Amino acid sequence: MTKLVANWSYPTAIRFGAGRIVELADACKAAGMTQPLLVTDFGLAKLDITARALDIMREGGLTPGIYSEVRPNPVETNLTRGVNVFRAGHHDGVVAFGGGSGLDTGKLIAFMAGQKRPVWDFEDIGDWWTRADAERIAPIVAVPTTAGTGSEVGRAGVVTDEATHTKKVIFHPKMMPRIVICDPELTVGMPAVITAGTGMDALAHCLEAYCSDFYHPMAAGIALEGMRLVFENLPKAVKNGKDLEARAQMMSAAAMGAASFQKGLGAIHSLSHPVGALYDTHHGMTNGVFMPYVLVFNRSAIEPKIARLAAYLGIGGGFDGFLQAVLKLRASIGVPHTLEGLKVDGSRRDQIAEMAIVDPTASGNPVTLTKDGALRIFDMALAGSF
Ligand SMILES: NC(=O)c1ccc[n+]([C@@H]2O[C@H](COP(=O)([O-])OP(=O)(O)OC[C@H]3O[C@@H](n4cnc5c(N)ncnc54)[C@H](O)[C@@H]3O)[C@@H](O)[C@H]2O)c1
Ligand SMILES: [Fe+2]
Repeated sequence: MTKLVANWSYPTAIRFGAGRIVELADACKAAGMTQPLLVTDFGLAKLDITARALDIMREGGLTPGIYSEVRPNPVETNLTRGVNVFRAGHHDGVVAFGGGSGLDTGKLIAFMAGQKRPVWDFEDIGDWWTRADAERIAPIVAVPTTAGTGSEVGRAGVVTDEATHTKKVIFHPKMMPRIVICDPELTVGMPAVITAGTGMDALAHCLEAYCSDFYHPMAAGIALEGMRLVFENLPKAVKNGKDLEARAQMMSAAAMGAASFQKGLGAIHSLSHPVGALYDTHHGMTNGVFMPYVLVFNRSAIEPKIARLAAYLGIGGGFDGFLQAVLKLRASIGVPHTLEGLKVDGSRRDQIAEMAIVDPTASGNPVTLTKDGALRIFDMALAGSF
């Protein structure tokens, strides 16, 4: 049994430790809910961990509902139907339960339940979030079941706009869950391929936050330690899903990724977002494919920083050593080396490059991301060579 148990108050209240899902009813009450709506995706809705979460709430005297019309890479209809269910059921809060898809949709339902404007009015642009009626945002308890997005400790939700095939980030500071239950036992049943993909998302968040030029040394420190946890634990978690200590460390790394990317993201995400929106690929796995090519593209701007990172991780050889370590990690957990492994070909490369340079994450990339640059990264990922 792992000794990794703690209560944290940064960046929100986190109850961390194996088995702590039993505290779900208590957490809901502490967040002011009596009739929570548990929001998850349709795959998770069928699993025992979800049935158990509902039982725990009922046994604790709550009257929960469940909404699970949520697909991976959620779209606006998943959100609008959920808002209708929330309102019709007179729910007073949301338990956002799942990987990024369930967590984001749950958070967005809690956010949109009391708003009158369309969700696209609250995209993460300038101060658009101030358009929201903050008083009417329902409380959120978040329960991650993957270790990747870190959405459980984030103030944003991602939803795909089907009209334009773009992934949009919706932001409001009050979308931060009031209480998070991080129970690594919930992730034990995650298939290896999702463990690998979600873990690469956590690594991409830490790496891009660390490399971004925005001034946020606090976030950079968190990102460094998050990367150590991924390198040391992701291969173990993929190899043996029941390794609870590795699962716990990955759950921390995921939360650290999201806490650190307030410092910015970069071209891994700028390219992964359009590819995910156009080809419905897994977000983290897509990041994993792009990671080494973006490192090479950014090399001139990040070499000393990456040398410091390599030293911290105990990897010799500076930038080149780190690049090799990323390639080795990727290969050991089954991340494809090229886009072909995601069933993505070159037919839409121009459109992807155009979408990448206007993705909000592009501004964090340490080398200005031009269309030519985005095409160069895409072509490297297509060919599998640098
Ligand atoms: N809000 C943010 O800051 C943020 C950051 C990164 C990514 N995202 C978004 O999150 C989404 C991706 O999230 P994800 O990578 O966690 O994947 P996901 O939520 O789409 O889940 C992937 C699959 O794993 C299954 N699954 C989840 N937990 C499981 C478990 N414990 N056991 C068995 N199966 C399980 C789900 O049913 C689903 O089929 C994307 O839409 C992405 O854009 C959001
Ligand atoms: Fe991500």
